[in-house]
Amino acid sequence: MFTPNPSLRLVSDHAALPAGTRISQIRPALGATISGFRFDGKPLSEDFRAVLRDLLHNRGLVVFEPGTVTAENFTAFAGFLGEFFHYAGPHTPRAPENPDATTIDSTRDKHLRNHIWHADGGFRADAPAFTALFAHQLPEQGGDTMYSNATWVYENLDPLFAAYLETLTVIQSADATGHITDRYLDPAEAAQARQKMPPFEMPLVRTHPVTGRKWIAVNESYVAYIKGVSRVMSQNLLGILFDMIKSPEATVRFTWTQGALAIWDNRVVQHKGIKDYGGGRRILYRATMTA
Ligand SMILES: [Fe+2]
Repeated sequence: MFTPNPSLRLVSDHAALPAGTRISQIRPALGATISGFRFDGKPLSEDFRAVLRDLLHNRGLVVFEPGTVTAENFTAFAGFLGEFFHYAGPHTPRAPENPDATTIDSTRDKHLRNHIWHADGGFRADAPAFTALFAHQLPEQGGDTMYSNATWVYENLDPLFAAYLETLTVIQSADATGHITDRYLDPAEAAQARQKMPPFEMPLVRTHPVTGRKWIAVNESYVAYIKGVSRVMSQNLLGILFDMIKSPEATVRFTWTQGALAIWDNRVVQHKGIKDYGGGRRILYRATMTA
């Protein structure tokens, strides 16, 4: 089904990289690793920012080895991408070391749904363009994150099927899989949350504002149904697309090490945490940014 796409490229000109910095590809569908770079807190050069943005737009996911940044300064580093955009609620408090970061703590939130494929903030029409995650505390084993490139999925569709999908829109909802129902047990609070996060309509196929490439904009957490088709049609079409999004060809599995940083284009790359660490504690610090 899948064929390599040469347009998913690495930057060709590495001349703008700081001395000792190396870039390598993770998988054909997505991902790049940057190693040999240490962020000293000083503003990045325009050239390096351009390389990082280009990598993110073209590879979707960029990961940095431990030691590149710290819990205190990873947000200053990630700030090269855009303005911080906090949409966090009571379940994701600010990180103690860093007011620009929120905490994703496996022991704090029993309704944490980060193990279902999603885009961060996908319950909002103005979901953040980029997410940065810093590994603060990891369980002894497990807790990897899966990433999928929905541009890759679109570009490997049968063209007739892709053309049909482009005629469709989807209804996205914070409560598509019970985020509100399960979390807000008080009816008044649930009603308030639903008012604050109402369902909205989006095209099923969307176009990246920078690369102009299309992607399949559905995810398991926040897409409720395809508008204007039968329930059976909606469920089955979404099932096909969800299967393609989580196929091995479209994905990469990232194993965290403490101090590692991952940044991704939250529009075209979706993700899920792998919940295989039992009672272990996994704390990631997150910053989300506009374009
Ligand atoms: Fe997430």
